[in-house]
Amino acid sequence: MVFRGKADANNHLRGPAWLAPVLGLALAVLAAAGHAGDAAAGKSLYPVCTACHGPAGAGNQAMNGPKLAGQEPWYLVRQMQLFQTGARGTAPGDMHGMQMAAMAKGPQLATEEALQNLAAYIGTFPVEPVEATVQGDVAAGEKLYVVCAACHGQKAEGLEAMAGPRLAGQSDWYLARQIKKFKDGQRGYHETDHGGRQMRPMVATLTDDKAINDVVAYITSLQ
Ligand code: HEC
Ligand code: HEC
Repeated sequence: MVFRGKADANNHLRGPAWLAPVLGLALAVLAAAGHAGDAAAGKSLYPVCTACHGPAGAGNQAMNGPKLAGQEPWYLVRQMQLFQTGARGTAPGDMHGMQMAAMAKGPQLATEEALQNLAAYIGTFPVEPVEATVQGDVAAGEKLYVVCAACHGQKAEGLEAMAGPRLAGQSDWYLARQIKKFKDGQRGYHETDHGGRQMRPMVATLTDDKAINDVVAYITSLQ
């Protein structure tokens, strides 16, 4: 449908004959890049998030809210959809996930367009470095991270093609907590959460708290 609209638009263009195909290609490239959100429209959706994620998405440990600044829009939208559909934040005992799930369900966030706009607005936040709060052995963590790089990238920058989010620059306490949730089955438990289900067997390589702290300390050293 979108495609036909663009073809029609091309038919109405006036100009040299070679121009239409060139413009058509440009439009196709834009379409392939996905729907980029409108940050200005997303701004009005963010104030409700500030209490737990901070006014510029730096996170708020006292409220258990992770850093959002610096995270890729595709991942932010995906997580909001998981919270909305009950694929994240519904596991027994996951109090923090339940809190967040309630926040994802406002009627103003019901469309994918709204989520794209909100993610685009979050994308305007400055990305500040995080403080290290988890004590770990960075060298030991580097060895443990080898298996993670396939989906999260060599520098933990995130790999959209593997659905692996950016980890570098995320708060260490949040990373450690999420790894434990994957281990406990509080994330990656739902049949529609394909990414989370892929992630679960990966944390089996982190056999104890020391291993979790070590890999998290290494990830924090990459920011
Ligand atoms: C009452 C506090 C609270 C509010 C308000 C809140 N959140 Fe959250 N959010 C959380 C908590 C806590 C988590 C971590 C959940 C967990 O531990 O699994 C979270 C997690 C997230 C995540 C997942 C991040 C990741 O790396 O996986 C996203 C995205 C998110 N919130 C976006 C938002 C947006 C956008 C808003 C505003 C519409 C919002 N949150 C409002 C508490 C809140
Ligand atoms: C096979 C691919 C794959 C491998 C290998 C992998 N992950 Fe993941 N990881 C994912 C995906 C996909 C997600 C997003 C899950 C979702 O959408 O809920 C994820 C999510 C995470 C998260 C949550 C991030 C957030 O913002 O909430 C952490 C932390 C994490 N992975 C750490 C690791 C570590 C540490 C390793 C290595 C021991 C690892 N992952 C290996 C695919 C992988």
